[in-house]
Amino acid sequence: MSALEDLLTCLRFPSVSTDSKHRPDVRACAEWLMNKLSGMGLTAALHETPGHPILVAKNRHLPGRRTVLLYGHYDVQPAEPLNEWKSPAFEPTLRGGRIFCRGSTDNKGQLIAHVSGIAETLAREGDLPVNLTILFEGEEEIGSPNLKPFLEAHRDELACDVVAISDTGMVGEGVGTFTYGLRGIACMEVKVHGPSIDLHSGIFGGAVANPATMAARLVSSLHDDEGRVLIPGFYDGVRDLQDWERSAWSSLGDGDAETLSLTGSPALFGEPGYTERERRWARPTAEVNGIGGGYQGEGSKTVIAREAFFKLSFRLVPDQDPERVLDLAETHLRAKAPPSVRLEIKRGHTGMAYLMDPHSPLGQAAQRALQETFGGNIALIREGGSIPIVQAFKDVLKADTLLLGLALPDCQAHAPNENFPVANLEAGIRLNQALLRELAA
Ligand code: BES
Ligand code: ZN
Repeated sequence: MSALEDLLTCLRFPSVSTDSKHRPDVRACAEWLMNKLSGMGLTAALHETPGHPILVAKNRHLPGRRTVLLYGHYDVQPAEPLNEWKSPAFEPTLRGGRIFCRGSTDNKGQLIAHVSGIAETLAREGDLPVNLTILFEGEEEIGSPNLKPFLEAHRDELACDVVAISDTGMVGEGVGTFTYGLRGIACMEVKVHGPSIDLHSGIFGGAVANPATMAARLVSSLHDDEGRVLIPGFYDGVRDLQDWERSAWSSLGDGDAETLSLTGSPALFGEPGYTERERRWARPTAEVNGIGGGYQGEGSKTVIAREAFFKLSFRLVPDQDPERVLDLAETHLRAKAPPSVRLEIKRGHTGMAYLMDPHSPLGQAAQRALQETFGGNIALIREGGSIPIVQAFKDVLKADTLLLGLALPDCQAHAPNENFPVANLEAGIRLNQALLRELAA
């Protein structure tokens, strides 16, 4: 089986972790991967969790060699809205050198690149230059709720010198990109309860609070007009950017123009005093991911609905503590809510931000691997997205993580028409081999 055929097979499993109707598909994908890895001569096992299975595979670990933990996720985000896909979301389709399919860039293309790199090396040389532990999970897109306890319970089995992950981006096609930081995350759902039943807005309007109005008011209390977060204490302990990062990032070209064209937004917006890359990669934010309430159907309906809701996520940077941020947000929202409504607040998943020194010996080894693969200068960046388990690797396994991304800026991760270039599958295979060689040395 070629790497490309393997990737197409892996992509056809609709392994959507958040949706219980896809539970069997998530498992089928894990089993396919397990069979793939054991077929390559690795010792592979699926570990059950209360959620989706965790896959661990190893070569024979020999004393005196470096141990590398390779992490990836085989779960994907939901494919909706389906009618915005140009080809079916779970039928991988090649157009213009790219594979279009949910999960192609996040994270199956990057994951299969590593698997294929390892398969080639094993077939050619019978062994790898390092002790390798593969850890693939099916719950990254829902905050990895079962992986941290698994790390704690299997510390010895997962002990390693360094972690490698390809689940981040490249700054441009063919530009080797080393990511040395990720933002953390903290999620929250808020229900705004008003009257005990839906009301006629003519009979009762003016006499009781409208939960939809109050939800909008609470949401707008989160920011000032320029985009600073107004939750008291939110910025406490936020670590400043270093000068070398500011200049390294500004040398990457016109970020404003790129983000305008990638997003299609009419104008940029956000915290004053920072460039758009600084705002995305190194500043904390509060985002509304969903808001609703009241009549959503065609035409008008004069109603005061009895409840409304909004869903928030905060992106965090070192050294913010996600639980503390949720405490501060809850205190702020409760203080802002008038007595005419009642708030029901549900806390969601959290993950710490991550930051390592890209100039460390392991960081430099990773950059040499990128250099061998892509040539040219290596971009040193942080990313705004989160991989919640990365800081847990540091806390539990005491290992730093090397993030070597293969996703392109216009990969449409989490959106319709997600895509991954065939060229990056091939580059990823070479990157895997260069990385293991560099880490062995
Ligand atoms: N691959 C992404 C993380 C990522 C995105 C890294 C963009 C760099 C740039 C990952 O699969 C992801 O989407 N993570 C979620 C985690 C969340 C659901 C806990 C995220 O960032 O929203
Ligand atoms: Zn993702």
